[in-house]
Amino acid sequence: MVSKAIIGCQWGDEGKGKIVDLLAKDSDLIVRFQGGANAGHTVVVNGKEHISHQVPSGLLYEDKIGLIGDGCVIDLDALRKELDQIGKGSKIFIGDRANLVLPHHKRMDELQEETRKKGIGTTRRGIGPCYSHKAGRMGLRICDLDDKNIGDRIDEIYPFVKDFTTRESLLDYCMDRKNLVEGRTVSTPNFLMENRGLDILFEGAQGTMLDVNYGTYPFTTSSNTTVGAICTGCGVPPSFIDEVIGITKAYTTRVGEGPLPTELRDEMGDHLREKGGEYGATTGRPRRCGWLDLVVVKHSLAINGFSSLVLTKLDVLSGLKEIKVCTRYDCQGEEIESFPANLSLLDECSPVYERFRGWDQKLEYKLPKEARDYIDYIESCLGVDVSMVSVGKGRGEIITNESWS
Ligand code: GDP
Ligand code: IMO
Ligand code: MG
Repeated sequence: MVSKAIIGCQWGDEGKGKIVDLLAKDSDLIVRFQGGANAGHTVVVNGKEHISHQVPSGLLYEDKIGLIGDGCVIDLDALRKELDQIGKGSKIFIGDRANLVLPHHKRMDELQEETRKKGIGTTRRGIGPCYSHKAGRMGLRICDLDDKNIGDRIDEIYPFVKDFTTRESLLDYCMDRKNLVEGRTVSTPNFLMENRGLDILFEGAQGTMLDVNYGTYPFTTSSNTTVGAICTGCGVPPSFIDEVIGITKAYTTRVGEGPLPTELRDEMGDHLREKGGEYGATTGRPRRCGWLDLVVVKHSLAINGFSSLVLTKLDVLSGLKEIKVCTRYDCQGEEIESFPANLSLLDECSPVYERFRGWDQKLEYKLPKEARDYIDYIESCLGVDVSMVSVGKGRGEIITNESWS
Protein backbone atom coordinates (compact mmCIF):
# COMPACT_ATOMS: atom_id res chain seq x y z
CA MET A 1 0.00 0.00 0.00
CA VAL A 2 2.77 2.34 -0.89
CA SER A 3 3.28 4.28 -4.09
CA LYS A 4 6.74 5.18 -5.32
CA ALA A 5 7.75 7.45 -8.17
CA ILE A 6 10.90 6.65 -10.16
CA ILE A 7 12.28 9.78 -11.82
CA GLY A 8 15.41 10.33 -13.92
CA CYS A 9 17.65 13.12 -12.59
CA GLN A 10 19.62 13.84 -15.77
CA TRP A 11 18.96 13.67 -19.54
CA GLY A 12 17.34 10.23 -19.55
CA ASP A 13 18.83 6.73 -19.77
CA GLU A 14 19.83 6.78 -16.12
CA GLY A 15 18.83 3.14 -15.73
CA LYS A 16 15.20 3.74 -14.69
CA GLY A 17 14.07 0.51 -16.37
CA LYS A 18 16.50 -1.61 -14.38
CA ILE A 19 15.43 -0.04 -11.07
CA VAL A 20 11.72 -0.26 -11.91
CA ASP A 21 12.20 -3.96 -12.68
CA LEU A 22 14.00 -4.41 -9.36
CA LEU A 23 11.29 -2.65 -7.35
CA ALA A 24 8.50 -4.28 -9.37
CA LYS A 25 9.22 -7.56 -7.59
CA ASP A 26 7.52 -6.14 -4.49
CA SER A 27 4.90 -4.06 -6.31
CA ASP A 28 1.59 -4.90 -7.97
CA LEU A 29 0.97 -2.14 -10.48
CA ILE A 30 3.44 -0.20 -12.65
CA VAL A 31 2.25 3.02 -14.24
CA ARG A 32 3.69 5.18 -17.04
CA PHE A 33 2.40 8.76 -16.71
CA GLN A 34 4.07 10.72 -19.55
CA GLY A 35 6.01 10.35 -22.76
CA GLY A 36 5.57 7.72 -25.41
CA ALA A 37 7.61 5.37 -27.55
CA ASN A 38 10.53 7.84 -27.42
CA ALA A 39 11.50 6.08 -24.16
CA GLY A 40 13.79 3.07 -24.21
CA HIS A 41 14.02 1.23 -20.90
CA THR A 42 16.33 -1.76 -20.63
CA VAL A 43 16.04 -4.70 -18.29
CA VAL A 44 18.55 -7.56 -18.38
CA VAL A 45 17.48 -10.90 -16.91
CA ASN A 46 19.66 -14.03 -17.16
CA GLY A 47 21.77 -12.23 -19.77
CA LYS A 48 18.79 -11.49 -22.00
CA GLU A 49 18.03 -7.85 -22.81
CA HIS A 50 14.41 -6.61 -22.84
CA ILE A 51 13.72 -3.06 -24.02
CA SER A 52 10.32 -1.41 -23.56
CA HIS A 53 9.29 1.82 -25.23
CA GLN A 54 5.56 2.26 -24.79
CA VAL A 55 4.60 -0.12 -21.98
CA PRO A 56 5.94 0.06 -18.41
CA SER A 57 8.99 -1.94 -17.33
CA GLY A 58 8.53 -4.52 -14.61
CA LEU A 59 6.06 -6.61 -16.58
CA LEU A 60 8.54 -9.44 -16.97
CA TYR A 61 7.03 -10.74 -13.74
CA GLU A 62 3.86 -12.36 -15.01
CA ASP A 63 1.58 -11.34 -12.16
CA LYS A 64 2.19 -7.59 -12.47
CA ILE A 65 -0.33 -5.12 -13.83
CA GLY A 66 0.70 -2.31 -16.20
CA LEU A 67 -1.10 0.98 -16.78
CA ILE A 68 -0.33 3.59 -19.44
CA GLY A 69 -1.82 6.79 -18.06
CA ASP A 70 -3.56 9.72 -19.76
CA GLY A 71 -0.44 11.92 -19.79
CA CYS A 72 1.23 9.45 -22.17
CA VAL A 73 0.95 9.55 -25.94
CA ILE A 74 0.15 6.19 -27.48
CA ASP A 75 1.79 4.82 -30.61
CA LEU A 76 -0.51 1.91 -31.45
CA ASP A 77 2.09 0.23 -33.66
CA ALA A 78 4.72 0.33 -30.91
CA LEU A 79 2.06 -0.92 -28.50
CA ARG A 80 1.17 -3.83 -30.79
CA LYS A 81 4.82 -4.91 -31.04
CA GLU A 82 5.30 -4.84 -27.30
CA LEU A 83 2.03 -6.61 -26.55
CA ASP A 84 3.15 -9.34 -28.97
CA GLN A 85 6.42 -9.66 -27.07
CA ILE A 86 4.96 -9.60 -23.57
CA GLY A 87 2.01 -11.78 -24.46
CA LYS A 88 -1.53 -10.78 -25.38
CA GLY A 89 -2.88 -12.11 -22.09
CA SER A 90 -0.83 -9.58 -20.13
CA LYS A 91 -2.63 -7.27 -17.75
CA ILE A 92 -1.88 -3.95 -19.47
CA PHE A 93 -4.44 -1.14 -19.30
CA ILE A 94 -4.55 2.17 -21.14
CA GLY A 95 -6.07 5.47 -20.10
CA ASP A 96 -9.06 6.46 -22.22
CA ARG A 97 -7.97 10.11 -22.27
CA ALA A 98 -4.45 9.46 -23.62
CA ASN A 99 -3.73 11.05 -27.00
CA LEU A 100 -2.74 8.97 -30.01
CA VAL A 101 0.51 9.40 -31.92
CA LEU A 102 -0.72 9.28 -35.51
CA PRO A 103 1.31 8.69 -38.71
CA HIS A 104 1.17 12.39 -39.62
CA HIS A 105 2.84 13.25 -36.28
CA LYS A 106 5.86 11.19 -37.30
CA ARG A 107 6.01 12.87 -40.69
CA MET A 108 5.77 16.29 -39.05
CA ASP A 109 8.52 15.37 -36.57
CA GLU A 110 10.83 14.48 -39.50
CA LEU A 111 9.98 17.67 -41.35
CA GLN A 112 10.36 19.88 -38.27
CA GLU A 113 13.78 18.38 -37.59
CA GLU A 114 14.86 19.06 -41.16
CA THR A 115 13.44 22.60 -41.10
CA ARG A 116 15.06 23.65 -37.81
CA LYS A 117 18.29 25.57 -38.18
CA LYS A 118 19.60 23.62 -35.21
CA GLY A 119 17.95 20.21 -34.99
CA ILE A 120 16.92 18.95 -31.55
CA GLY A 121 17.88 15.41 -32.47
CA THR A 122 14.45 14.01 -31.59
CA THR A 123 13.75 10.30 -31.64
CA ARG A 124 11.45 11.02 -34.63
CA ARG A 125 8.65 9.12 -32.90
CA GLY A 126 6.17 11.97 -33.47
CA ILE A 127 6.25 13.06 -29.84
CA GLY A 128 6.51 16.86 -30.29
CA PRO A 129 3.76 17.16 -32.93
CA CYS A 130 1.48 14.86 -30.93
CA TYR A 131 1.80 16.87 -27.70
CA SER A 132 1.45 20.13 -29.71
CA HIS A 133 -1.78 18.84 -31.23
CA LYS A 134 -2.99 17.70 -27.83
CA ALA A 135 -2.50 21.23 -26.45
CA GLY A 136 -3.98 22.69 -29.63
CA ARG A 137 -7.04 20.44 -29.24
CA MET A 138 -6.58 18.81 -32.60
CA GLY A 139 -5.62 15.33 -31.45
CA LEU A 140 -7.41 12.01 -31.26
CA ARG A 141 -7.63 10.10 -28.02
CA ILE A 142 -7.92 6.44 -27.07
CA CYS A 143 -11.63 6.91 -26.28
CA ASP A 144 -12.24 8.20 -29.85
CA LEU A 145 -11.33 4.77 -31.25
CA ASP A 146 -14.49 3.35 -29.76
CA ASP A 147 -16.72 6.32 -30.58
CA LYS A 148 -19.37 5.79 -33.22
CA ASN A 149 -18.84 9.44 -34.19
CA ILE A 150 -15.10 9.05 -34.84
CA GLY A 151 -15.69 10.17 -38.45
CA ASP A 152 -16.97 13.54 -37.18
CA ARG A 153 -13.97 13.93 -34.91
CA ILE A 154 -11.65 13.22 -37.84
CA ASP A 155 -13.52 15.80 -39.91
CA GLU A 156 -12.81 18.36 -37.18
CA ILE A 157 -9.07 17.78 -37.10
CA TYR A 158 -8.58 17.00 -40.76
CA PRO A 159 -8.23 20.61 -42.00
CA PHE A 160 -5.19 21.02 -39.73
CA VAL A 161 -3.37 17.93 -40.99
CA LYS A 162 -4.48 17.63 -44.58
CA ASP A 163 -0.99 18.31 -45.97
CA PHE A 164 0.23 15.16 -44.22
CA THR A 165 -2.55 12.62 -44.54
CA THR A 166 -5.89 11.87 -46.15
CA ARG A 167 -9.15 11.61 -44.25
CA GLU A 168 -9.58 7.98 -45.36
CA SER A 169 -6.11 6.85 -44.35
CA LEU A 170 -6.61 8.41 -40.92
CA LEU A 171 -9.91 6.63 -40.45
CA ASP A 172 -8.45 3.33 -41.75
CA TYR A 173 -5.50 3.69 -39.39
CA CYS A 174 -7.83 3.99 -36.42
CA MET A 175 -10.24 1.26 -37.51
CA ASP A 176 -7.40 -1.21 -38.19
CA ARG A 177 -6.00 -0.79 -34.70
CA LYS A 178 -8.97 -0.20 -32.41
CA ASN A 179 -9.11 -3.88 -31.43
CA LEU A 180 -5.69 -3.51 -29.81
CA VAL A 181 -7.11 -1.49 -26.93
CA GLU A 182 -10.41 -3.32 -26.62
CA GLY A 183 -10.75 -4.72 -23.12
CA ARG A 184 -7.75 -2.66 -21.99
CA THR A 185 -9.22 0.84 -21.88
CA VAL A 186 -9.87 2.34 -18.45
CA SER A 187 -10.44 5.68 -16.77
CA THR A 188 -6.98 6.28 -15.27
CA PRO A 189 -8.08 8.18 -12.11
CA ASN A 190 -10.87 5.69 -11.36
CA PHE A 191 -8.57 2.72 -11.96
CA LEU A 192 -5.95 4.13 -9.58
CA MET A 193 -8.50 5.01 -6.90
CA GLU A 194 -9.99 1.52 -7.10
CA ASN A 195 -6.50 0.03 -6.80
CA ARG A 196 -5.29 2.34 -4.01
CA GLY A 197 -4.69 -0.74 -1.85
CA LEU A 198 -1.96 -2.05 -4.18
CA ASP A 199 1.74 -1.29 -4.13
CA ILE A 200 2.21 1.07 -7.06
CA LEU A 201 5.27 2.23 -9.01
CA PHE A 202 5.09 5.30 -11.22
CA GLU A 203 7.76 4.93 -13.89
CA GLY A 204 9.12 8.19 -15.30
CA ALA A 205 10.35 8.38 -18.86
CA GLN A 206 13.07 10.71 -20.13
CA GLY A 207 14.67 12.72 -17.30
CA THR A 208 14.34 16.04 -15.48
CA MET A 209 16.66 17.87 -17.91
CA LEU A 210 14.38 16.86 -20.80
CA ASP A 211 11.29 18.32 -19.05
CA VAL A 212 9.64 20.86 -21.34
CA ASN A 213 9.52 23.46 -18.51
CA TYR A 214 12.62 22.76 -16.44
CA GLY A 215 14.99 21.11 -18.91
CA THR A 216 17.33 22.67 -21.46
CA TYR A 217 14.49 24.09 -23.59
CA PRO A 218 14.15 23.92 -26.57
CA PHE A 219 16.46 20.88 -26.45
CA THR A 220 13.94 18.89 -24.44
CA THR A 221 11.13 16.47 -25.05
CA SER A 222 7.56 17.81 -25.21
CA SER A 223 6.13 16.51 -21.94
CA ASN A 224 6.71 17.23 -18.27
CA THR A 225 9.00 14.48 -17.06
CA THR A 226 9.07 15.50 -13.41
CA VAL A 227 7.06 14.34 -10.40
CA GLY A 228 4.19 16.79 -10.92
CA ALA A 229 3.36 15.01 -14.17
CA ILE A 230 2.11 12.03 -12.16
CA CYS A 231 -0.77 14.16 -10.85
CA THR A 232 -1.63 15.73 -14.19
CA GLY A 233 -0.96 12.57 -16.20
CA CYS A 234 -2.91 10.18 -14.01
CA GLY A 235 -5.52 12.38 -12.37
CA VAL A 236 -4.35 11.73 -8.81
CA PRO A 237 -3.64 14.24 -6.01
CA PRO A 238 -0.07 14.81 -4.72
CA SER A 239 -0.98 12.89 -1.54
CA PHE A 240 -1.22 9.76 -3.72
CA ILE A 241 2.61 9.69 -4.00
CA ASP A 242 4.42 8.37 -0.93
CA GLU A 243 8.05 8.27 -2.06
CA VAL A 244 10.02 9.86 -4.89
CA ILE A 245 13.18 8.03 -5.92
CA GLY A 246 15.71 9.85 -8.10
CA ILE A 247 17.76 7.75 -10.51
CA THR A 248 21.19 9.24 -11.14
CA LYS A 249 23.86 7.78 -13.36
CA ALA A 250 27.34 7.95 -11.73
CA TYR A 251 28.38 10.13 -14.69
CA THR A 252 26.29 12.08 -17.24
CA THR A 253 25.02 11.21 -20.70
CA ARG A 254 22.75 12.78 -23.27
CA VAL A 255 21.54 11.63 -26.67
CA GLY A 256 20.55 14.27 -29.20
CA GLU A 257 21.54 17.92 -29.39
CA GLY A 258 21.65 20.64 -26.72
CA PRO A 259 23.86 21.72 -23.84
CA LEU A 260 25.78 19.25 -21.71
CA PRO A 261 28.11 21.31 -19.49
CA THR A 262 30.37 18.44 -18.33
CA GLU A 263 30.65 16.80 -21.75
CA LEU A 264 34.01 15.13 -22.42
CA ARG A 265 34.93 15.38 -26.08
CA ASP A 266 38.09 13.35 -25.54
CA GLU A 267 39.36 9.85 -24.82
CA MET A 268 37.72 9.83 -21.40
CA GLY A 269 34.33 10.51 -23.03
CA ASP A 270 34.97 7.66 -25.49
CA HIS A 271 36.00 5.39 -22.63
CA LEU A 272 32.76 6.06 -20.71
CA ARG A 273 30.69 5.48 -23.88
CA GLU A 274 32.37 2.17 -24.68
CA LYS A 275 32.58 0.82 -21.14
CA GLY A 276 29.07 1.98 -20.30
CA GLY A 277 27.59 0.75 -23.60
CA GLU A 278 26.22 4.25 -24.10
CA TYR A 279 24.20 3.81 -27.28
CA GLY A 280 20.53 4.83 -27.38
CA ALA A 281 18.02 2.08 -26.54
CA THR A 282 15.49 3.63 -28.95
CA THR A 283 17.57 4.99 -31.82
CA GLY A 284 20.98 3.32 -31.36
CA ARG A 285 22.67 6.73 -31.50
CA PRO A 286 25.95 7.14 -29.54
CA ARG A 287 25.31 9.00 -26.29
CA ARG A 288 27.44 11.99 -25.40
CA CYS A 289 29.24 11.40 -22.09
CA GLY A 290 30.69 13.53 -19.29
CA TRP A 291 31.39 13.68 -15.56
CA LEU A 292 28.62 13.70 -12.97
CA ASP A 293 27.11 17.19 -12.74
CA LEU A 294 25.74 17.94 -9.27
CA VAL A 295 24.37 21.32 -10.41
CA VAL A 296 22.04 19.27 -12.59
CA VAL A 297 21.17 16.77 -9.86
CA LYS A 298 20.49 19.62 -7.37
CA HIS A 299 18.15 21.24 -9.91
CA SER A 300 16.42 17.91 -10.25
CA LEU A 301 16.19 17.45 -6.48
CA ALA A 302 14.62 20.89 -6.03
CA ILE A 303 11.91 20.10 -8.58
CA ASN A 304 11.17 16.50 -7.58
CA GLY A 305 11.89 16.46 -3.82
CA PHE A 306 13.55 13.06 -3.81
CA SER A 307 13.18 10.88 -0.71
CA SER A 308 16.30 8.97 -1.79
CA LEU A 309 18.60 8.44 -4.74
CA VAL A 310 19.79 5.36 -6.60
CA LEU A 311 23.23 5.74 -8.17
CA THR A 312 23.54 3.59 -11.29
CA LYS A 313 26.44 2.40 -13.43
CA LEU A 314 29.03 2.93 -10.69
CA ASP A 315 30.89 -0.08 -12.14
CA VAL A 316 31.63 1.97 -15.27
CA LEU A 317 33.89 4.23 -13.19
CA SER A 318 35.96 1.31 -11.83
CA GLY A 319 39.56 1.31 -13.02
CA LEU A 320 39.86 5.08 -13.41
CA LYS A 321 42.76 6.80 -11.59
CA GLU A 322 40.79 9.95 -10.98
CA ILE A 323 37.08 10.77 -11.06
CA LYS A 324 35.71 14.30 -11.30
CA VAL A 325 32.41 15.71 -10.08
CA CYS A 326 31.09 19.11 -11.10
CA THR A 327 29.78 21.03 -8.08
CA ARG A 328 29.22 24.51 -9.55
CA TYR A 329 29.70 26.53 -12.71
CA ASP A 330 32.09 29.38 -13.35
CA CYS A 331 29.90 31.81 -15.21
CA GLN A 332 31.76 34.84 -16.53
CA GLY A 333 34.01 34.86 -13.45
CA GLU A 334 31.16 34.35 -10.99
CA GLU A 335 30.49 30.95 -9.39
CA ILE A 336 26.91 29.76 -9.58
CA GLU A 337 25.23 26.66 -8.17
CA SER A 338 21.87 26.84 -9.90
CA PHE A 339 21.14 25.71 -13.44
CA PRO A 340 20.46 28.75 -15.69
CA ALA A 341 17.32 28.93 -17.85
CA ASN A 342 19.06 30.94 -20.53
CA LEU A 343 21.11 28.77 -22.86
CA SER A 344 23.34 31.66 -23.97
CA LEU A 345 24.29 32.17 -20.34
CA LEU A 346 24.77 28.41 -19.90
CA ASP A 347 27.12 28.54 -22.87
CA GLU A 348 29.33 30.94 -20.89
CA CYS A 349 29.48 28.54 -17.94
CA SER A 350 32.31 26.12 -17.36
CA PRO A 351 32.14 23.34 -14.78
CA VAL A 352 34.16 23.57 -11.57
CA TYR A 353 35.27 20.11 -10.46
CA GLU A 354 36.12 18.28 -7.26
CA ARG A 355 38.51 15.38 -7.80
CA PHE A 356 38.29 11.91 -6.30
CA ARG A 357 40.60 8.91 -6.25
CA GLY A 358 39.38 6.00 -8.31
CA TRP A 359 39.33 2.30 -7.42
CA ASP A 360 40.29 -0.89 -9.21
CA GLN A 361 38.29 -3.53 -7.35
CA LYS A 362 35.15 -5.15 -8.72
CA LEU A 363 32.23 -3.56 -6.89
CA GLU A 364 30.42 -5.98 -4.63
CA TYR A 365 28.90 -6.10 -1.17
CA LYS A 366 31.42 -3.96 0.77
CA LEU A 367 32.40 -1.12 -1.49
CA PRO A 368 36.03 0.04 -1.59
CA LYS A 369 36.74 3.15 0.49
CA GLU A 370 37.21 5.31 -2.61
CA ALA A 371 33.76 4.38 -3.94
CA ARG A 372 32.24 5.09 -0.52
CA ASP A 373 33.98 8.50 -0.48
CA TYR A 374 32.41 9.25 -3.87
CA ILE A 375 28.94 8.32 -2.61
CA ASP A 376 29.40 10.13 0.73
CA TYR A 377 30.35 13.29 -1.12
CA ILE A 378 27.26 13.12 -3.33
CA GLU A 379 25.04 12.57 -0.29
CA SER A 380 26.57 15.43 1.66
CA CYS A 381 26.35 17.86 -1.29
CA LEU A 382 22.71 17.04 -1.91
CA GLY A 383 21.48 16.24 1.59
CA VAL A 384 19.76 13.06 0.36
CA ASP A 385 20.66 9.42 1.01
CA VAL A 386 21.84 7.12 -1.74
CA SER A 387 19.85 3.99 -0.89
CA MET A 388 21.32 1.68 -3.54
CA VAL A 389 24.07 1.59 -6.11
CA SER A 390 23.74 -0.36 -9.32
CA VAL A 391 26.94 -2.08 -10.42
CA GLY A 392 26.00 -3.94 -13.58
CA LYS A 393 23.20 -4.49 -16.09
CA GLY A 394 21.84 -7.65 -14.48
CA ARG A 395 18.89 -7.79 -12.11
CA GLY A 396 21.00 -8.89 -9.15
CA GLU A 397 23.81 -6.39 -9.66
CA ILE A 398 22.75 -3.99 -6.96
CA ILE A 399 24.20 -3.07 -3.57
CA THR A 400 22.09 -1.53 -0.82
CA ASN A 401 23.41 1.03 1.67
CA GLU A 402 22.96 -1.40 4.59
CA SER A 403 25.82 -3.43 3.21
CA TRP A 404 28.31 -0.65 2.55
CA SER A 405 27.61 1.86 5.34
P1 GDP B 1 16.48 4.14 -18.90
O1 GDP B 1 15.98 4.78 -20.14
O2 GDP B 1 16.68 5.11 -17.78
O3 GDP B 1 15.68 2.94 -18.47
O4 GDP B 1 17.94 3.56 -19.24
P2 GDP B 1 18.37 2.79 -20.59
O5 GDP B 1 17.86 1.42 -20.52
O6 GDP B 1 18.05 3.60 -21.79
O7 GDP B 1 19.94 2.86 -20.47
C1 GDP B 1 20.62 2.31 -19.38
C2 GDP B 1 21.65 1.27 -19.91
O8 GDP B 1 22.56 0.95 -18.89
C3 GDP B 1 21.00 -0.04 -20.31
O9 GDP B 1 21.76 -0.61 -21.34
C4 GDP B 1 21.11 -0.88 -19.04
O10 GDP B 1 21.14 -2.29 -19.29
C5 GDP B 1 22.45 -0.42 -18.51
N1 GDP B 1 22.59 -0.42 -17.05
C6 GDP B 1 21.66 -0.12 -16.11
N2 GDP B 1 22.24 -0.12 -14.88
C7 GDP B 1 23.53 -0.44 -15.07
C8 GDP B 1 24.65 -0.57 -14.19
O11 GDP B 1 24.58 -0.39 -12.98
N3 GDP B 1 25.85 -0.86 -14.76
C9 GDP B 1 26.01 -1.06 -16.10
N4 GDP B 1 27.22 -1.33 -16.55
N5 GDP B 1 24.98 -0.95 -16.96
C10 GDP B 1 23.77 -0.64 -16.44
P1 IMO C 1 14.28 7.34 -21.64
O1 IMO C 1 12.90 7.20 -21.04
C1 IMO C 1 17.20 9.90 -23.60
C2 IMO C 1 15.62 13.04 -26.21
C3 IMO C 1 15.90 12.93 -27.69
C4 IMO C 1 15.97 14.41 -28.04
C5 IMO C 1 14.89 15.02 -27.16
C6 IMO C 1 13.56 15.22 -27.86
O2 IMO C 1 14.80 6.11 -22.27
O3 IMO C 1 15.22 7.95 -20.63
P2 IMO C 1 11.61 13.56 -28.58
O4 IMO C 1 11.63 12.39 -29.51
O5 IMO C 1 11.17 13.23 -27.20
O6 IMO C 1 10.88 14.74 -29.16
O7 IMO C 1 13.16 14.02 -28.50
O8 IMO C 1 14.72 14.13 -26.08
N1 IMO C 1 14.96 11.86 -25.61
C7 IMO C 1 15.59 10.98 -24.81
N2 IMO C 1 16.88 10.91 -24.44
N3 IMO C 1 16.31 9.03 -23.10
C8 IMO C 1 14.99 9.11 -23.44
O9 IMO C 1 14.05 8.35 -22.86
C9 IMO C 1 14.59 10.10 -24.37
N4 IMO C 1 13.41 10.44 -24.93
C10 IMO C 1 13.65 11.52 -25.69
O10 IMO C 1 17.11 12.27 -27.95
O11 IMO C 1 17.21 14.94 -27.66
MG1 MG D 1 16.49 4.95 -22.15
